[in-house]
Amino acid sequence: MAALIRFDGRVALVTGAGNGLGRAYALALAERGASVVVNDLGGDIKGGGKSSRAADKVVFEIKSKGGKAVANYDSVEEGEKLVQTALENFGRIDIVINNAGILRDKSFPRISDDDWDIIQKIHLRGSFLVTRAAWPHMKKNNYGRIIMTASTSGLYGNFGQANYSAAKLGLLGLSNTLAIEGKKNNIFCNTIAPLAGSRLTSTVMPPDLIEGLKPDYNVPLVLYLCHDSSPTSGDCFEMGAGWISQVRFERSKGAVVRTRDSFGTPEAVRENWEKITDFTDSDKPTRGNTPFLVEMLNKFKEEASSTPSSGTEGGTLQNKISAFQPPPESFNFTEKDIILYALGVGVSTQQPDYLKFLFENSEDLTTLPTFAVIPAFDSMVQASAGGISGFPIDPTKVLHGEQYLELYKPFPTSGSLKSIVRVADILDKGSGALILYNVETQDEQGDKVAFNQFATFVVGSGKFGGPRSSTQHKLPVDTPSRAPDATMSEKTSLDQAALYRLSGDRNPLHIDPSFAAMGGFAQPILHGLCSFGFAVRHVMKTYADNDMTKFKAVKVRFSKPVLPGQTLQTEMWKEGNRVFFRTKVVENGNICISGAYVDLKPGATGGQTQSAPGAATLQSDAVFDEIMKQAKTRTDLPSKINAIFLFNITKDGKVAATWTADMKTGKTGDVYQGQPRNGKADCTITMTDDDFMAMHNGKLNGQQAFMSGKLKLGGNIMLAQKLGEVLNAAKQAKM
Ligand code: NAI
Repeated sequence: MAALIRFDGRVALVTGAGNGLGRAYALALAERGASVVVNDLGGDIKGGGKSSRAADKVVFEIKSKGGKAVANYDSVEEGEKLVQTALENFGRIDIVINNAGILRDKSFPRISDDDWDIIQKIHLRGSFLVTRAAWPHMKKNNYGRIIMTASTSGLYGNFGQANYSAAKLGLLGLSNTLAIEGKKNNIFCNTIAPLAGSRLTSTVMPPDLIEGLKPDYNVPLVLYLCHDSSPTSGDCFEMGAGWISQVRFERSKGAVVRTRDSFGTPEAVRENWEKITDFTDSDKPTRGNTPFLVEMLNKFKEEASSTPSSGTEGGTLQNKISAFQPPPESFNFTEKDIILYALGVGVSTQQPDYLKFLFENSEDLTTLPTFAVIPAFDSMVQASAGGISGFPIDPTKVLHGEQYLELYKPFPTSGSLKSIVRVADILDKGSGALILYNVETQDEQGDKVAFNQFATFVVGSGKFGGPRSSTQHKLPVDTPSRAPDATMSEKTSLDQAALYRLSGDRNPLHIDPSFAAMGGFAQPILHGLCSFGFAVRHVMKTYADNDMTKFKAVKVRFSKPVLPGQTLQTEMWKEGNRVFFRTKVVENGNICISGAYVDLKPGATGGQTQSAPGAATLQSDAVFDEIMKQAKTRTDLPSKINAIFLFNITKDGKVAATWTADMKTGKTGDVYQGQPRNGKADCTITMTDDDFMAMHNGKLNGQQAFMSGKLKLGGNIMLAQKLGEVLNAAKQAKM
């Protein structure tokens, strides 16, 4: 049987122990062997008067049961005297329970200076003075257990208790810091927010509730926290009537509202409000997020040193970009629009499951995910029609360079949408400027449906001293060098552009031969976004069996034009949840879409590399996906790390996923699912999915993980020192 919790040889000081909670703690501590200083001023609940009766009564009770106790009648404002009583009578001080308290409840405007000051003095300053007096003795003994008494009024607020709430939450701050400062001397400090029927609450609680909330229910936790065996410090607990619960903070993932060269704007805060307050991927912080901020600042610094300073003019441009805030554009659409679009990107009645894309009465009528570019394109064109103030744009020189699209939920089949267009950045590419337009599309409820990033290249507008790259840019990726895992070909119709343009892009370049000739083309060309629609269909058909709910995001670069009637061949490589692809014009071999990928939601299968049916979804998959993305952009990794790592991620005792991080063979890092494709792994890491996540989130230190057997290493174990560098790639990508 585990040992009883006892306090023999320990000396405890309980403030305000003449009544209520303090009395219950004092009696229980004495009963379990502690020598107790029973402190009580003996005044009324508002802090008036004084008497020795309250403390004497409790000392008498303790002594009559054979316990050791001594009374102290000083106010906690005389902290030194209370501690002196402990030292003089028992020779040491081990435990301090800061409990004494009074109330001066009044609605906020009625609180007088005196009402404010006395509450701060007794609760906050009193706890400070008593604890400060005990601290050096605890330090000397290398032992101390301290309790601060807060209240739910402080944690959550309560009408009529502004003075009391402020003092009570102040105690939590005091306790958090004492836990940090006391750690090296084995001094623990915790905070409680109790609920008990006492003379303090008898004025606001009905008698039967007072009866049900006996102070004694709060004793077990306090005694445990005061014992040598308690493992915790710096924590906060809410309790009452025998229920105990820990309270902690939650921090949303948040949003960065500044750019490299601007402080951010209140408008950017408004736009990011949902993200700032979204607790989906929240963490439970035990400290401020300084490491993230330092990482972010370093990234900005690195970016600034790798791109020439944009000077004052560049700075002004950044301000103008931030000030470019066109109003949201509305977009109304019906089933007819999504069907017309599907026809425009090649859906045909010759396909077995065409009804769900082409028939409005189909039970599972589905919008192709790429339709999400339509409302966004419309808004982007409207918003940028007048150019960007401070950055003139010649519309005849604009090429659609790249497209990124992410869906937050399946796209509706009809409705009314709103798109908000912002310029994320303007990059100086020398021969031209690359303008990044971010477009967020929301539904009628204001919920985010889609995010698009259009990257348009303005020929001849470069050399303006702007940055060459941007953290905002959704980058294209390298295509794997092996033979494709799957391919799909489809011939476009001669009328493809004529049909696609009805979905919104009415640029005459795609229909009028004389206009096309002015642009240097022998005939009207197909819309890049039309080939894009074809290619994404190919990926979704091959790897998700046309289940569009599996679509997450797509990125493409438009590299060569396509003519209506030509055949599009999409080559695909599946690695994890990402399908890399490129699209070729079969007739001339030109790559028309390059650097492209589709990210699928976990669980999509198909093609030649489909995962085993029923394979478990691992938390680490998402991290490896991020490392994969980032590694492909990092030419420094092979020389820096120069090793191949093999990760065996286990779940329920079995290897559930194997990932290779090849930081040796290629021009960039390369991360993929499965065994190494180039030679043997230099170092093998085996750990559970949960431990991997803990390590990734900084909650488990690699060395500790190794020492405790949570991380098993094979091969050249010295290489484990470079693991941080590999995992860090995902952290950088997360920003
Ligand atoms: P209580 O009124 O029964 O006991 C408080 C004791 O503190 C009294 O005996 C009083 O004489 C003594 N005291 C007041 N000022 C003092 C001073 N300057 N120096 C020394 N002793 C002094 O109240 P209760 O309910 O037992 O409260 C104990 C603590 O718990 C207080 O800090 C209170 O704010 C806190 N609390 C109580 C809750 C409850 O539901 N009872 C709820 C949340 C917090």
